Amino acid sequence: MRFRFPLYPSSSSSLLSFIFSSSRFSTFISMAPAFEPAIGSENKSGNDGFKSKVAVVGSGNWGSVAAKLIASNTLKLNSFHDEVRMWVFEETLQTGEKLTDVINKTNENVKYLPGIKLGKNVVADPNLDDTVRDANMLVFVTPHQFMEGICKRLAGKVRGEVEAISLIKGMEVKTEGPCMISNLISEQLRINCSVLMGANIANEIAVEKFSEATVGYRDNREIAEQWVKLFSTPYFMVTPVQDVEGVELCGTLKNIVTIAAGFVDGLDMGNNTKAAIMRIGLREMRAFSKLLFSSVRDSTFFESCGVADVITTCLGGRNRKVAEAFARNGGKRSFDELEAEMLQGQKLQGVSTAREVSEVLSHRGWLELFPLFTTVHEICIGSLPPSAIVEYSEKKPRLSVLEDSTRCI
Ligand SMILES: NC(=O)c1ccc[n+]([C@@H]2O[C@H](COP(=O)([O-])OP(=O)(O)OC[C@H]3O[C@@H](n4cnc5c(N)ncnc54)[C@H](O)[C@@H]3O)[C@@H](O)[C@H]2O)c1
Repeated sequence: MRFRFPLYPSSSSSLLSFIFSSSRFSTFISMAPAFEPAIGSENKSGNDGFKSKVAVVGSGNWGSVAAKLIASNTLKLNSFHDEVRMWVFEETLQTGEKLTDVINKTNENVKYLPGIKLGKNVVADPNLDDTVRDANMLVFVTPHQFMEGICKRLAGKVRGEVEAISLIKGMEVKTEGPCMISNLISEQLRINCSVLMGANIANEIAVEKFSEATVGYRDNREIAEQWVKLFSTPYFMVTPVQDVEGVELCGTLKNIVTIAAGFVDGLDMGNNTKAAIMRIGLREMRAFSKLLFSSVRDSTFFESCGVADVITTCLGGRNRKVAEAFARNGGKRSFDELEAEMLQGQKLQGVSTAREVSEVLSHRGWLELFPLFTTVHEICIGSLPPSAIVEYSEKKPRLSVLEDSTRCI
């Protein structure tokens, strides 16, 4: 199977030179439609070879936006079947109706993405097995804590040639060590799994505000291009990078930095402090990623999945919001309580990721190398007050080890 390559620059460096060769950034934004992938050269008329069938596993806030993006492209592109089946963890709404029925009747996910039409070709399905049965491209986008159970249910039911992509930010910690979600999917379902991460607050993309994302792929560039084609729209620009672990760890670890930024906001500490937290956080993200996987590339941290995602989630997003409330309450109300009260069924990731990373750090004897990650976890569990987030003078990491992080694996 051959995939056509998109018309826009495929790496950050070529993109940057493109931006700077345009006279103004606003010109670049207004030119965004020119980045549309090869839709014109591959429309629905004509050909009729093999068509990919896409299923989305998950239907929360980001899951619903992902289904909308995908469905707009499967309608236009000849190499995809129109229908996008989306698995819904069934819930009964306050009206007594089933969420799946309401999505299929109104074409809206009234609980997790109200007010946004998903596209008539999105079909909500409460049955996980039926959702994935005929698909050869699987998009996983649930909160990470549910993935182990979902993989167990799907094990043995997915064909080997199926390709997967994970939009999930988080990791599983097992006794034998940390396991990235893409790895969990690959191992349990015996399929290849790419990742898509980036500065992507779902509600902004839902109303089609311009943003970027990064696809991390392992070794098959054509598969990466197929995912790029499936997700790209004039307002959603996707860049492929050959670094699955780096991209996925960026998406996962930034949620810890976001919690720290929320504490800073709750303590009214100002912009300089928040910028310092972002910088230190990014540095710990890079060091931790490279300690775990020596293949992780420095350049990945300059993609949308890296610095851009740190910035966007430290300014907005649910993890920051709930962490701010936690600090304003002096740490007296638990994250579980605040999550239930403030997020209406949506899930926090940063607190569980801080715990999981802390387990890894403790197990490997790395705690003192990562004072920001460690402090966030200790504040979350009530061992330290929120103000500890800026008490760095006594907790400087062993800088030489972080500078050359691959040395001490
Ligand atoms: N929301 C965003 O802006 C955003 C952006 C980028 C990435 N992400 C990532 O996307 C992933 C999914 O987040 P989301 O925003 O779509 O979800 P969400 O937090 O909005 O919604 C929670 C989802 O979990 C489902 N659920 C509840 N209990 C379940 C169970 N027992 N088993 C399976 N599912 C259950 C709910 O039905 C709902 O679909 C997360 O890893 C998140 O980090 C989110």
